[in-house]
This record gives sequence, structure tokens and C-alpha cells, in this order.
Amino acid sequence: HVIYRADYQAPAYWIETVELCFDLDPVKTRVLNRMKVRRNPEVAAQPLRLDGEELNLARVLVNGQGTSFKLDGNQLVLENLPEGHEPFELEIFTTCAPAKNTKLMGLYTSNDSFFTQCEAEGFRRITYFLDRPDVMASYTVTLRADKKKYPVLLSNGNLVDQGELEDGRHFAKWVDPHRKPSYLFALVAGQLVAREQRITARNGREHLLQIFVRPGDLDKTEHAMNSLMASIAWDEARFGLPLDLERFMIVATSDFNMGAMENKGLNIFNTKLLLASQATATDMDFLNIESVVGHEYFHNWTGNRITCRDWFQLSLKEGLTVFRDQEFSMDLAGSPSARAVKRIEDVRVLRTAQFPEDAGPMAHPVRPDQYLEINNFYTVTIYEKGAEVVRMMQTLVGREGFAAGMKLYFERHDGQAVTCDDFAQAIADANPGSQLAALLPQFKRWYSQAGTPRVKASGHWDAATGSYTLTLAQSCAPTPGQPDKDPFVIPVALGLVGADGQETASRLHVLTQASETLSFTGLAAEPVPSILRGFSAPVILDIEYTDAQLLALLAHDSDPFNRWEAGQRLGLARALGFIAQEGLAPAALQLDAPYVEAMRSVLRHPQLDAAFKDLALTLPSETYIAEQLPVVDPQRVHAVREAMRLQLALALREDWEWAYEAHKDNGAYQPDPVSVGRRALAGLALTHLCVAAVHQGDTVWPGKALQRFKDASNMTDRFNALSALVISGHPLAANALQRFHAMFRHEPLVLDKWFALQAGAPDRGGNILPLVRQLVQHPDFSLRNPNRARSVITTYCNANPGGFHRADAAGYVFWSDKVIELDAMNPQVAARLARAMDRWRKLAEPLRSAAREAIARVAARPELSNDVREVVTRALAD
Ligand code: ARG
Ligand code: ZN
Repeated sequence: HVIYRADYQAPAYWIETVELCFDLDPVKTRVLNRMKVRRNPEVAAQPLRLDGEELNLARVLVNGQGTSFKLDGNQLVLENLPEGHEPFELEIFTTCAPAKNTKLMGLYTSNDSFFTQCEAEGFRRITYFLDRPDVMASYTVTLRADKKKYPVLLSNGNLVDQGELEDGRHFAKWVDPHRKPSYLFALVAGQLVAREQRITARNGREHLLQIFVRPGDLDKTEHAMNSLMASIAWDEARFGLPLDLERFMIVATSDFNMGAMENKGLNIFNTKLLLASQATATDMDFLNIESVVGHEYFHNWTGNRITCRDWFQLSLKEGLTVFRDQEFSMDLAGSPSARAVKRIEDVRVLRTAQFPEDAGPMAHPVRPDQYLEINNFYTVTIYEKGAEVVRMMQTLVGREGFAAGMKLYFERHDGQAVTCDDFAQAIADANPGSQLAALLPQFKRWYSQAGTPRVKASGHWDAATGSYTLTLAQSCAPTPGQPDKDPFVIPVALGLVGADGQETASRLHVLTQASETLSFTGLAAEPVPSILRGFSAPVILDIEYTDAQLLALLAHDSDPFNRWEAGQRLGLARALGFIAQEGLAPAALQLDAPYVEAMRSVLRHPQLDAAFKDLALTLPSETYIAEQLPVVDPQRVHAVREAMRLQLALALREDWEWAYEAHKDNGAYQPDPVSVGRRALAGLALTHLCVAAVHQGDTVWPGKALQRFKDASNMTDRFNALSALVISGHPLAANALQRFHAMFRHEPLVLDKWFALQAGAPDRGGNILPLVRQLVQHPDFSLRNPNRARSVITTYCNANPGGFHRADAAGYVFWSDKVIELDAMNPQVAARLARAMDRWRKLAEPLRSAAREAIARVAARPELSNDVREVVTRALAD
């Protein structure tokens, strides 16, 4: 049933302490749970209802005595509890079956080890409990298991005791010194080894840092450990937030639904976001690891010390913590240009994933009002748009003001479970003179209204008076359940750029009305407006630029974000123009000389960084282009974008050759921003060179790519060379793919890349679906492993529009088969895949009808999980 934010009620009972004792066994794990429980005097007396799922209940004792109880759906109901407000003891004994737990929520096994995932509602799959984040308790945990099979036994907090038991078993006892909600509980047991690091904090306190992995993986943990140490130092330096634990542990598992989890003192990570060596991980992997290790570490304060009152407040911790990890990565990147590259990458994610979400059937506010399944709300809106909302607060109060706001937030709420309102109030109260404080109720519409606002900008130049007026008008389309929207508070960073590149004005304008007009006087010539610099708000900017204006911004804008954006707008305008000319075959498409020359100037620019060039020379994605169209034929979008890339490949052939030769050697492998940018640009150049070569029937560059593939000293260069062959469709690709598989068949994370590269390759005459069907039959494929399932199925359905949206609808049939098959196993992974059809209403016929049919086919299944049911029901709702 649907849960509403407005129905929140404080718990009728508090759980003060929990003592858990586990006898770990994959088939039948026994869990003894002894709690000290007390009535909440502020709530009317009522039975205690504890959550539990897929548990076998053996015994319930209250103060050591048997008691009556009943089971009501997934709740254990206790009616005859002691009166009064004294705590009483509640003891519950249950068993569960970790080896059968394919949902990977609660306690499960993976590669013969035990792991847990409790956020959001997994703890109830371990024991009966008040499984809600506002119930915070002190935990003592004893783990018992076979010593040979499970030599390492971990839980949150400090190890206080360990020893031998009979029959080859042993135990470990852990006490967490911090109160926490159940979703932050964790345990791990298995054959693991650790990289260890002792550090001394600024205040002189010693900490032990440990990263646990399977024995063969120890040499891939150095980067994660460095990232962890950098995170600790950063949070202390930027926000004055120190590590509050003697021991901080991270454990990696290859079976994990999400990226990673911030369990107090015992983070659990998907191996994909922890393990890296230059031979097996790309630069992107290294950067993702840095940011996710940071993210989970930063949750220690934003999420764990102050947590969420209820799950509607999820962005309180996620939006804020994404903002913090973004700032962390930017601060580590260092130079202004490297910071801008990170900003552009973050905005690209927002625009290609969150904007479509905000425009589709799953649109929801940053603080949602209702849900059927909370797992469906770990979304780009909660995370990435939530981070943009926090970023706008920082823009409105300044960096110092924001740090002061964080300080006040912790002074007020440390140790509490609070709401998004509490956070915004603290930032505003610490900055009483700020525009945030003045506009707080209106600003908070960012939390309550879904949908991406549009800002329409129109300029008017009056040559006679040398004055320029700029009108900014905002609007926001309806979203499900929200037909009318009130104006947002939109910080618009803007500047005026002269034709010679001179900047004549620059300011932050805070747009609050539906429409406002700004005037600039004393100008010698008509300026080019550079609006929404640094992407100062998560909005769509509608503005009619001439090519000349965009070329001026691309050449001169002092704001690197808008400089990049100008190039993207030039490319997008051409893509949309070609798509609209229905009679035009993609092969007949010709890029105009000014655009090509502008791209050449960027590529050859003496000052711009390679990383920036790589971003600027990458065309807008098919998904982003599709979002700009009212009706989409994904095959045409694909064909047009491919044709544009071919044109750029041919027209800039010598420039690409220069770029490749000039950037291909980077000395010893280092994942620093400069070398990462050089490798990215060399890779982009190689792809264009292979694309051009295949078109011209030339074998020189594919041959060089194959050589590069063989000789590469790191995965980034090797994988880029392999991708260049696969993307260009050169026959040498088959051989290279085979070699790649042979080289890395014992490296699961590399095999994921091998699968994903093929499932995401450009479709040629409908060849991808048959290939995907083969890949899911491959001996190395497994639907049970989320990383592997995603590498083939999600890549195909979500990241290969040209291959997926087939006229014969076979892609959609495949999608519905896999959603149904996965749902029986792992509803969370299935529901993510289900979202691949979110934008079906935009599809051109006959795709649209075929898509609806496929969704209806899934929706018609009687035994769907809440996860998938919610996604398909919303997709079909009018
Ligand atoms: N809190 C985790 C993170 O953002 C994500 C956990 C999501 N888990 C889930 N079952 N939806 O770091
Ligand atoms: Zn998080």
C-alpha cells in the first residue's frame, strides 16, 4: 500500500539497546535479539508492531516470560506489554536463510561470505524490529561461525571480545559506541584480508583504517585507501568534521544492488567502486572510487550522526552528501579548469538522467510526498537534483556562510533524526542577512515541487543608448499530481561578453518572479549574454542564440562551463536540424564549415586542457538529443549522431592524428586530472580515426588501434583502443574482443566491461539484439550477479537507444522478459531495468504502441514485486 509523508507519526515505542547474537550458517542462521524497549510517553498507548520479513519466528519473551503475540502481515504485534514508562526486555529468536536471499537485502551470502544491506528496510529481514530511521539504539553484536570458513567476523563499532568455541567455531563481540537507526547496522563474515593504515588525527587521536577484500584483491585497494585518507583530511579541513571512530572499516563484495553503503564504521562497497589497479581499472573507475569512498565516508556525519526522520527526507542525507562528494572531488582536482571538468561531468549526469526522470512518469519532488516502495526513490532526483538544491543554498549564502550553516546544523541536531526543513532552516539561520534567509519559504519549493523549471531568456540591444535589457521568464510544466507550479528561487549567474571577448558585466541575479527584466547601460556594442554560468541552477535555459553568438562564447567565455555549453548548443542545433529534415538520409548530411572550424580551433587550442577538449568535442548524447524532441525516433537520432561523428572524423582527420600523437604518451600511470584528460582525448581521437578509416576503407588506424590495444600499459588506453575498434565496426574488433576476454577471464570487473562494450555498441542493421541474446547465454553471464546483469541487459536497454528501439519491437519483448525474470530474483535490480521504458510516451509510432504493449505485459503479471509494480503502474497511468 502507498505510504504518505503527511501520515508521519512518532513511534509509539523506543528501542534503547539491542543485543544481537548470530549463529551464522548459510542455510539457517539463528538470530537472538534482546532489546530494551520503552513506551514513548508522547504517543497514545497502543500495541507494539514490529516489522519482519521472510523470518521464521521461534520465541518471544517479555521480561524473561512467554507472552501472547500475533502476526499481522509482515508485522509481529504485541498487545500485553507492561504498562507505564519503565523500559522492559523483549527477546525475540528467529532464523533466516542467507543463501536463499537473492534479493540481496538483509543478510545474504556472496562467494561464501556473509554480508548485509539494511538501507532502507533490510533490517526487518534479519530480525523483528522498529525498522524506521527515527528509532535509534545502541547495538552490541556477537557473531559466531565456523572459524575455517569465516575467519573474519565484523560488525559496527569496536571489537571488545573474541575467542574460540567448540566444534571449530569462534566468536567476535562488537560494541558500537554510537546510537544508530537499524538501516546502518552491518555484519560481514568470511575469508577476507585487509589493507590497514593507522592515522593520527589533528587532535592527536589514533584511528585504524581497514579495507577488507578477498585474498587475491589486496593489490587493488591502494587507491581506495588513499581516497579514504584524503576524505578524512578534507572533511576536517573544509567542515571541521573529524572521524569519530577508533576503527573505520570498508568491505568489498561483488554481489551488491547499489554502489556502496555507509553503515556506521563498516561501509560495504560494490567491488566495482572499490577495487582498482592500473591494469584492470580505467581512469573513470579511479575517479568514481575516489568520489564514492568520499561519499560514504561523508555520510558518517551527514546521514549517520544526523539522520533522516523518515524516508521522505532521504535527500536530507543523500543530496547533501552528493554535494559534499562533488566538492571533495573538485577540491582534489585542484586547478580551476579541472574543477570545471568535474562540474561539466556532474551536469551531464543531471541532464541525461535526472531531467528525463523529472519529465517522465516517475517524476517526484526532492522530498517526495508518497511512495509504494522506498527502494524506487533512490533516484537521480533525490541524489543529484538534491545536491543541486544544496549547491544553490551555498551560492546564496556563500562558501563561508554555508560552512557556518553546517556548523549550526550540527550544533542543533547532532544525534537526531530530522527533516529537510531542519537543514534548510539551519543554513538560513546561520546567514540571517542572506537572500536564502529572506526567501526561505519560496526557496523550499525546490523540495516540494517536481519538474525541471525552464528559464526563457531574451535580450534586447538599444544601440542608440548603449543599453541592453535581458528578460528572464520562468515556468515549470505539470508533473504527475502537480498540475500547477509556483515560481522557484533561481540563482542565475550571468555575464555579458563583448564580441572581442571582453567581459563587460558579471553578476548573480536571483530570479524569484515569473518574469523579471535586467538592464545594463554604458555598453559600447551589443554583448553576448552568458547565462547560468557554472550551471548555477538545475533548470533548462531557453535562449535563441545565433551561431555567431555561440561561436563567440565558445571562443571567449571566461566561464568554462558556458564555453563548453556553447559548443554543445552548436552541435545540438545541427543534430536537431538534420533530424527534422525527414527526407535527408544521414549519409547525405553535411556539417557546415564554421562549426567544423570551431571544433578544429578547440581541438588545436594552445591553452585549453585536454580534458576540456575531450568534453567539448564529444557530441551531445543520443539521450540528451532525444529529450529535446517532442516525438522521438531513436533510430534516426542514432543515425544522425553517428553521421555527425563521421563528418567530424573526416573533416578533422589530420587534427585527430595530431591530437592522438600529441597526447598518447603519459609516462608512468597516474590518475591525476592532467593525465586523465590526455588519455581521454587520445582515446577520442583514436575512435574518430578508426571511424574515418572504416569509412574510407583504410586499415592504417585500425591496425594502430590493435597495436595500442596489445601494448597498452593500463586499462584506460587498452579499453579505449578496444572501444575504437568496436565502435568503428572494424573487423579487427572481433579478434581484439577475444583476446581481451582471454586476458581477463579471471577479473569479473573487467569482464563486466567486456560485456557492456558489446551490449552498448552502435547498432548496425539490427545486429545488437541477437548479440545480446548470445551474451546472456555466455558461460560467464549470470543474472544473479547485479553487476553482470546490468552490464548486458541494462546497458542494452538503457544505453543503446539505436539497438533497443527496434521497429520489430523485439527489444521491448526482450526487456519485458528480463524484467519479469529478474523480478522473481531481485526486485530492486528489476525495477531499475523497468525504468528503461520511462519515456515511452515520447516515442514515434509504431514504437510507442509496441512499448505500451510490452509494459502492459509486465503489469499484467499477478505476482510482481511492489518495486516493479510501482514503476510499470506509473508508466501506464494517464
Ligand atoms: N545510502 C547508500 C548511498 O547512497 C545507498 C543505499 C541504497 N540502498 C537501497 N537499498 N536502495 O550511499
Ligand atoms: Zn549516499
